[in-house]
Amino acid sequence: MNRNLSQRHNICLSDDPKTSKRMELALKRSKELDQTTNMDQSSKSFDYEKCKDEMWNPERFSLLYKTWIWENATPSQKTKLNQLYWVAYYSQIISAEIATIFFNQTSAASLYGIEDFRIVCDTLDLESAQERAHINAFKTVSEKFEEENFGERIFTYPMRTPFEKTMLYSDLNSLNQLLRKWQLNFFTMISSNSPFIGCQYFTVRGLRTLNGKIVQHQLSRYYSEHPDKENSPIPSKISYYHFIDESFHFNTSTVISHEVINSLPKPSRFETMIGNMALRGCQMDHYNFSTAINGIFWYDPALYQSIYKILRSQVFNMKHDEATHAIEKSFCEESEGMLMSYKTHRESVDSYKAYLQDFNYINKENKNLSLMASNSLERHLKTNRKEFQKFKREMVS
Ligand SMILES: [Fe+2]
Ligand SMILES: [Fe+2]
Repeated sequence: MNRNLSQRHNICLSDDPKTSKRMELALKRSKELDQTTNMDQSSKSFDYEKCKDEMWNPERFSLLYKTWIWENATPSQKTKLNQLYWVAYYSQIISAEIATIFFNQTSAASLYGIEDFRIVCDTLDLESAQERAHINAFKTVSEKFEEENFGERIFTYPMRTPFEKTMLYSDLNSLNQLLRKWQLNFFTMISSNSPFIGCQYFTVRGLRTLNGKIVQHQLSRYYSEHPDKENSPIPSKISYYHFIDESFHFNTSTVISHEVINSLPKPSRFETMIGNMALRGCQMDHYNFSTAINGIFWYDPALYQSIYKILRSQVFNMKHDEATHAIEKSFCEESEGMLMSYKTHRESVDSYKAYLQDFNYINKENKNLSLMASNSLERHLKTNRKEFQKFKREMVS
């Protein structure tokens, strides 16, 4: 049939056979290497007793690594800090993946509204199903760990909808959080109706997973380089399986945001504005870096309470004064750990810049990552110190 009669737009994905082929091949390969079964088996066979005395990540991926708390910890406490990194890290990933599942669907809804996009939607369906297996594995291990060590939740949380704040420890106050919720509602409506915004979501998703890809590759190496893979700790296997699935997800984000987008009509001024707003939101979420957890852009002061709980628990057995002193020494003084986290943040700014450089619709402020790049070690320390004084006063009262 004459295309002008059969389609809403005079441009379509089948006009770009190279990209269509790339999507087809990626989906085929992703199905072949799908790690869902491995993930589910790992979740089922996880036994905390069997791996409670071992590290689950390379040592430098430990909570509070190379801070005062780390330097003063016993070897068994260091092992717990290493396992805690796993729990904290993947608790954040669960939150991000709950959002991913939802926006995969809304974006697929808008893209399915034009011809030829079935392959893209099928890819997203597979990825959403994989995310559910990932979440289940992370949740199983993390909840068991916290139950055994603390008898209460520290980093984990009951299942929730994508409308909760995605960044678990952020500097958003309650008003900002409410605002963010409304923005998300708004974005949902638009992304499920505008193919451009649906597609543009993958620029944001690609950006958000870019840093994750770097960290998760290193986490996966604990298993891939383990001398006795069979008996290696199950959480390290989960990191490995997860990295395999996520490599495909990252590839999908790159192809959709860089290539598939060219098979869509040019964005309107309104769509360009929304796209840039979404990228600015990403910059805001990634503005901070965390001394406690290298590779996740949490806001340190929001973590003080959780770290306090850990220090007062049977793992560290500290008294109130000891715990507050340890927090002050670790978060308010420069340390090798803090510098390493800062370095990761700077590296992310550079890799985000490279990822965004060839998009026409993105404004200068987003292309240069101006907001995210404006954070510094001095600012970080100043904020941590100021907020520590508040935390200390609140703990006394
Ligand atoms: Fe995942
Ligand atoms: Fe993913």
